[in-house]
Order: sequence, then C-alpha cells, then structure tokens
Amino acid sequence: MHPYYYFALKLFLSASFAQVSDSVLHYATTPNGFTTPPRGWNSFGLQSLQDGKKLVLNQESVIAQCDNLETISHLGYTYCSLDSGWSVGCNGDENGRTIYDSSIFNIPALATILHDKGLKLGIYINPGFFSGDKDKVIEGTNVKFSSIAATGDGNPEFNCRLNANWDVPGAQEYCDSNVKLWASWGVDYIKLDYVNPGSPEGGTLPSNSSGAVACYHRAIEKIDREIFLEISWKLDWRLDWANDIYKSSADAMRMDQDINNSGEGTLVSWSTVQRTIEMYRQYILAQQERGANFALTIYPDLDNLYVGNAQSLTGITDEQRKSVMAHWIGAGSSLLLGSDLTQLDDFGLFLLSDGLANEIAGFTAKYPMRPLRGKAGETAGYQHQVWIAGPDPATGVAVILASNYGTQGDSRWFIEEPSDDPYTEKIILDSNYGLNGELDYLVEPAWNSTQKFTLAASEPWRVTLGDSATRMFRVTPLRAPSSLPSRSATRTVFSDTKPSITDPSTVILTRRDQQPSLIMQSTYPIESPDCGDYPELGTLPKAFNTQDGRVDQKGLLFRLRNMICNGTCSAPEGIPHFNVAVVEHSGGCEISVAISDKSEAYGYRSSPNWGVEQQQCWDSTAYIIERCMRVPNRHCWWNGNHVFQFYEIGFRPLNTNTSYHGQFDVFLNSSLTPANGSVSVRNVSSTSVAVSKSLPAVVTLPTVGPPLTAAQSQITTSPTISASVPAKTGGTAATSAHEVYQLVFGSLLWLAWLG
Ligand SMILES: *[C@@H]1O[C@H](CO)[C@@H](O)[C@H](O)[C@H]1NC(C)=O
Ligand SMILES: *[C@@H]1O[C@H](CO)[C@@H](O)[C@H](O)[C@H]1NC(C)=O
Ligand SMILES: *[C@@H]1O[C@H](CO)[C@@H](O)[C@H](O)[C@H]1NC(C)=O
Ligand SMILES: *[C@@H]1O[C@H](CO)[C@@H](O)[C@H](O)[C@H]1NC(C)=O
Ligand SMILES: *[C@@H]1O[C@H](CO)[C@@H](O)[C@H](O)[C@H]1NC(C)=O
Ligand SMILES: *[C@@H]1O[C@H](CO)[C@@H](O)[C@H](O)[C@H]1NC(C)=O
Ligand SMILES: *[C@@H]1O[C@H](CO)[C@@H](O)[C@H](O)[C@H]1NC(C)=O
Ligand SMILES: *[C@@H]1O[C@H](CO)[C@@H](O)[C@H](O)[C@H]1NC(C)=O
Repeated sequence: MHPYYYFALKLFLSASFAQVSDSVLHYATTPNGFTTPPRGWNSFGLQSLQDGKKLVLNQESVIAQCDNLETISHLGYTYCSLDSGWSVGCNGDENGRTIYDSSIFNIPALATILHDKGLKLGIYINPGFFSGDKDKVIEGTNVKFSSIAATGDGNPEFNCRLNANWDVPGAQEYCDSNVKLWASWGVDYIKLDYVNPGSPEGGTLPSNSSGAVACYHRAIEKIDREIFLEISWKLDWRLDWANDIYKSSADAMRMDQDINNSGEGTLVSWSTVQRTIEMYRQYILAQQERGANFALTIYPDLDNLYVGNAQSLTGITDEQRKSVMAHWIGAGSSLLLGSDLTQLDDFGLFLLSDGLANEIAGFTAKYPMRPLRGKAGETAGYQHQVWIAGPDPATGVAVILASNYGTQGDSRWFIEEPSDDPYTEKIILDSNYGLNGELDYLVEPAWNSTQKFTLAASEPWRVTLGDSATRMFRVTPLRAPSSLPSRSATRTVFSDTKPSITDPSTVILTRRDQQPSLIMQSTYPIESPDCGDYPELGTLPKAFNTQDGRVDQKGLLFRLRNMICNGTCSAPEGIPHFNVAVVEHSGGCEISVAISDKSEAYGYRSSPNWGVEQQQCWDSTAYIIERCMRVPNRHCWWNGNHVFQFYEIGFRPLNTNTSYHGQFDVFLNSSLTPANGSVSVRNVSSTSVAVSKSLPAVVTLPTVGPPLTAAQSQITTSPTISASVPAKTGGTAATSAHEVYQLVFGSLLWLAWLG
C-alpha cells in the first residue's frame, strides 16, 4: 500500500480496464421499466414478531412506521410496502377485485399521505381470484370467474383463492381490472406472493401460477402509472420455462423462503441469513454459467433487510448487520427494510447512509456480485468467499466483497466447516478477478472511505475478517485521462434546483489542458494555489446587484465557494437562477454565474465532498479566492492529493468552451447587473460543514480554516461542526448530516438512468 504521491506521475496510456470486457454479468432494464431495485420498508418482519411486540397492521401503525422513512427517503428509501393483512381476505368487490379492509385501512388516503411526503405505496396480493367470487362477472366482460378457474389436482384452493387458467378469455381482463383499481388508489408497488413454481408449500398450492405474473405484467403495461412488480417466494429459477416467465414479467424475485424469525422477540437469525446468501450464490453462479455478457432483467430479492435496529431487536450483531447490508447491496437486491423504523439506531443509520456504500449500490444495481471462490456446485459453498461485481467495461471499476461467515452461523451451508476466526483473505486484483493486473488500483472501503489506499499492479492485499464479518470495497484502476469515457456521460442542468449527478464510476480526472493530467499529487501547497489569466476579460464590474443587496467580486466568489463546499451544488444564495448554470458530474460540481455579457464567475470541485476533502475544499478555496483577487490572476486552482481532487474558482469569458456548461450548450445569456456606490455585503447564513455523524471513528473533523480577511469572515464557515446524532423523526440535524450523502446518492439513480 502506498500513499498516492508514490504513483503521482505514472501514466497508463494504453490502459485496458477489464481483462474480458464483454463477459460481465449485468442487470438490464426490468420488464416494467426499472433500472434499480426498490428501497423502502415492508411490514412483514414486524408482523412476525411475538405477540405484544408484533406490528398490528392498520392505517395508523403503518403511518407511524412510514413517517420515519422521511429520515432516509433522500437515500432512496421511499417504498412503504404493506404485506398480507391489508385486504379483505376471502372475497373481492362486485367484480372480484381485491379491495382493502376498510375497518383498518383507507388505501387511497394512505397513498395520498405517502405521496405528499415523496414516498410510495406498496400492496401485497396472491395469484388467482377469490373462491367466494365464482359467480361474479369480470369487469368489462360477461365472463364469470367460474369459467376461468383452473381445475385439477394441481390447483387446490389456497388462502380463499382459486388459481386461474391465465390464458383463457377473461383472465387478462381480471388482472387489468385489479391493476386499474389499485393504480387509481395510488399504488406504486405490488408484491405477488405464493407464486409457483417456487413457493414451497408442498401439495397445498397450485403447481403453476406463473401465468399470474405475466398477466399482472401485461396489466401494468396498459396503465399510465409506474408500478414495480415483485414476486415471491423462493421462485424456481432452475426451470427455464418458469424463469423465462419471471424475468420477462417481474422486476424482482425472491431467492429463498422468508428469513424472518417467527413469533420471537427478534427479527432474524444469522444462520437464516447465511441460508439466503447461499441461495443467492447458487442463483448467480447459474446465471453466470449462462455465458458471456448475459443480461439479467430481474433483480434478486433476498427478503427484508434487517439492519436498522439494535441487536436486541434485530437478533444479529452489528458486525452481522453490516454483513447483511453488504450482501444485499452486493447482490443488487431489493432493499426493503424489515426493521422497526421508529427505532432505527445510530449504527443502522450509519449502514444506510454511508456515501460510498450508496455509490456501490448504484454500481451493483447494474453489476451483481458473484462469488469468486466457493464451490460451483449447488448445494454448498466454502466458508470464506470473495465476491466480485463488475468490472464496468468502460471504466474498469469493480466492487469486491470479502466475507468470513464465521462460527456463529449454520455450517450446513458450507462444505468447509466454518472455524477460522479471524481469517485473512489474500486478494490480488488481476485476471482471476476479471481485472487488469497491469494497473494500479485505488481501493475504497465502504463504511470507512477515509481509509482508502492504492495498490501497485498485482500487489497482494490482505483483508482480515473476524467472525461473520464482511468488508466491501470499490476498486478503481488508475489510468490516463486519454482513455477516459467521453464527456457525453455528463449531465448538464440549467436551474437552481438540485439535479441528480452522474455515475460516480464515470470519472473525469481532469478538465483542462493547463492542469496536470493525473491528479494524484498536490502540485502546490494548499495555501499557494496556481493561477491563470484571461486577458480578454478586460475590466470586470466591481460589484453586483443580487436578490439580497449588493455584493462585491470577492463576496460573490465566497458565495460560490459556499455552494461548492457545503455539498449543495446549486445557485448561490441571492443569485437568481437564470444567471446561473450548474453542472454536476461524478460527485463533482461546477457553478457559473454570468456577471456581464462577456464574463462569468465560476467555481468548480471535481471530487465528492467527504472526509478530509470537505475541509480541504473550504481551505483551498479560501486561498484561491484571496489569490485570484490579485490582478491579473483571474482564476486559480488547487489539486489535492486525493484522487480526482481539484478545486478552481475565479472569472472567465462567458460560456467559454472550457466550461462544462459551455461544452453542453447551456449558455448563460442573462447576467447580474453591475452595482455602483458602496457595497454592503450581507452575511450568508451558516456554512458549517456537513459531517456524517455515522463515521465518528474516521471522519477528520474540520480544522479551523486559513486566516480570513475581514471581507471573508462575513460569509465564511463556522469552524464548529455538529457531529450529533440525527433525530430519528427528521429534524435539522438529520438533514444536514445526510446532505452530503444526498449528493452522492443521486448518482445511483443517474447511473441507472444512463442504463
Ligand atoms: C416468518 O414469519 C412468518 C409469520 O410469522 C412465519 O410463518 C414464517 O415461518 C417465518 N419464517 C421463518 C423462517 O421462521
Ligand atoms: C405454466 O403456466 C404458464 C402460463 O399459463 C404456461 O405458459 C406454462 O406452459 C405452464 N407450464 C407448465 C409446465 O404447465
Ligand atoms: C476503518 O478502518 C480502520 C483501519 O483499518 C479500522 O481501524 C476501523 O475500525 C474501521 N472503521 C469502521 C467503521 O469499520
Ligand atoms: C449550503 O448553503 C446554502 C446557502 O446558504 C444553504 O441553503 C444550504 O442549506 C447549505 N447546505 C448545507 C448542506 O449546509
Ligand atoms: C475552444 O475554442 C477555441 C477558440 O475558438 C478553439 O481553438 C478550441 O479548439 C476550442 N476547444 C474546444 C475543446 O472546443
Ligand atoms: C437563454 O438561454 C436559455 C437556455 O439556453 C434559452 O432557453 C433562452 O431562450 C435564452 N434566452 C435568450 C433571451 O436568449
Ligand atoms: C449607479 O447606477 C445606477 C444604475 O444602476 C445609475 O442610475 C446611477 O447614476 C449610478 N450612480 C453612480 C454614483 O454612478
Ligand atoms: C457578519 O458576521 C460577522 C461574524 O458573525 C459579524 O461580525 C458581522 O458584523 C456580520 N456582518 C453583518 C453585515 O451582519
């Protein structure tokens, strides 16, 4: 392991990232149009607790839970999904459609409450129609349910339902009528349970209800509402014909039986978690064996995610909670928490909110992990497993997950008896991992991103894992800018609203010819940024009118700095959005403000703003502004010693083609008006750095910035930061602590969008 500067000037001009770039197992858009698995909450885990502790499913108890999703909805946890118990059990409405039990629910009202908070609603259904509805007529037809009933030994009645002949007239109309009704209520997600082949209830379930999956998919296609279709449980992907139906109709499918405990005081057990991981291992190996470049159009569902509550309720240790989070993310699984959202603890929030883990989830929504070690046979695996997701053929980025399933679990799932504790796994990033062993790599640990390090080409690296521990890393090849992906992957926005940002793995190392080509070394000390001049700028206005009074040049640059360094990439305070162009990419941010018909002020940060880099942003940009105030230096920059770390602030020609916005034809055509007379600068509100309280062990708290001039001190940062625990029900502490991660999290949606 080496400090970055060791590799500072190494260039890899002929870098090829992936050894076998066309054989990477990946996800593709699902049948109902999704490019990420869902995140949110599902009620079933809490419903399965022992009496007295269990959730009694009704409108109030669900709202009490899902109100708390607001604390994590900025991380994408938006689905509030009801499991069984919300609907009338044994009959439908006059047309046999599944309806809510109005003694405990008003589903349209619930949907409105959730939607108003930016959340989504999920419901739970079974295949088939109600046995009590045989004589009713399917909506819009004169077909009676009795005429679509499937008969015979393979079709016993179950849960008051009868399986249908899904291919006869009337069946599709039945699915359509249900979906139309539920969509009118505002449903966003459907869990279709008891689907066969798969659901393991012996002879008591219909042997083939897969037609319901296709039927509901076609119904969803017909409506004007996005609905995620998840199917359950332990779906039999081993049967090609069934797998074909599932993956061409549903968006996610359950890999295994329920992992919840039943009637206990805790939610889950580590041995059951191991069982589900093993089921995923068997599944993904089988998919991998289907051949090169195989696209999976369905996400795996490893069942509810039990990571949010303390060990006393979750039932597994914190180390195991982290292992669950890492495996669920690594698989690209649905991330529907089964936790009690009113009791999320600090560690749970830490697991959910880590910036890098969320970026990795964006990556694994495209590239699922598969085991590198482990027996290829279906019945068992080795205890120690290393998994790899990717590499992304364009960037060479991959995700590595190393696990020691430990001695606390169920050894039946492993051929090698779990015993070693702790265990050291030796990893070499080379062709065994499908990686290019001739490149150096940056290795970033999830939930510990300040501990990132570089590896020389094929340098061995050891991961020591205690009992049931898992470590997840993103590995990024270090290479020359000439081989970077094109800038067309960059998103451009022209507004003051906060846009999503691009795929963090689509990294743009540097943007200017005048900059060192590989930003691996701090070219100058932080207090001595380098500068350049644009002679064509001529004389700039000395001050400008803003929405809150006049501001001088330096004040304007400090307002830009505030938005660059506080993690909010949007129009600076007091500056009308039509004078501003904002471009976000790869965790970086460019903000430009037109100040005349020939010139603009701008600020740019190339890397995500976390860890020590947050404080370095504040510090370096203060020095930059000081220096670029000195004519003729109109703009200055500093490149830090973290990979991709680069800051620049100053003035430049309007819409110049070296600006990101200029390159994307977002032209600033309306400028601030010059102000004359004496300039009064209003204090910009607090600019304290957002620090994740979730990383107390590793976050370097900001130090007091460089000495400030009188003008700066009116608008600069407060050196004190709050590392307090976010309030569980929202509140300002939670918001600011997570703000930084919001920036990062947007990237995975964007990654997915890029497809
Ligand atoms: C999960 O909970 C349900 C309902 O209590 C129960 O039927 C099921 O057996 C539980 N799963 C496990 C693995 O215990
Ligand atoms: C199961 O049902 C589906 C949909 O009706 C059908 O396409 C498939 O052929 C059936 N499979 C078997 C083995 O009967
Ligand atoms: C982060 O890494 C350091 C060094 O390996 C380790 O001591 C620390 O426990 C880790 N922190 C977390 C939260 O995993
Ligand atoms: C950044 O500063 C702006 C303007 O003062 C403010 O609106 C925003 O909330 C700040 N963001 C954070 C994360 O502090
Ligand atoms: C930017 O414009 C200058 C002058 O018109 C031109 O020489 C240069 O090639 C352009 N650069 C890019 C990257 O388009
Ligand atoms: C200014 O630019 C925006 C975005 O490029 C464009 O939509 C608008 O029409 C332009 N306005 C004028 C007056 O040119
Ligand atoms: C200040 O600018 C305004 C227009 O913005 C102009 O009317 C006024 O005469 C100027 N005052 C001075 C002292 O230049
Ligand atoms: C701005 O804030 C500083 C520090 O809190 C204070 O000394 C100064 O008086 C304030 N300026 C204005 C114009 O409010």
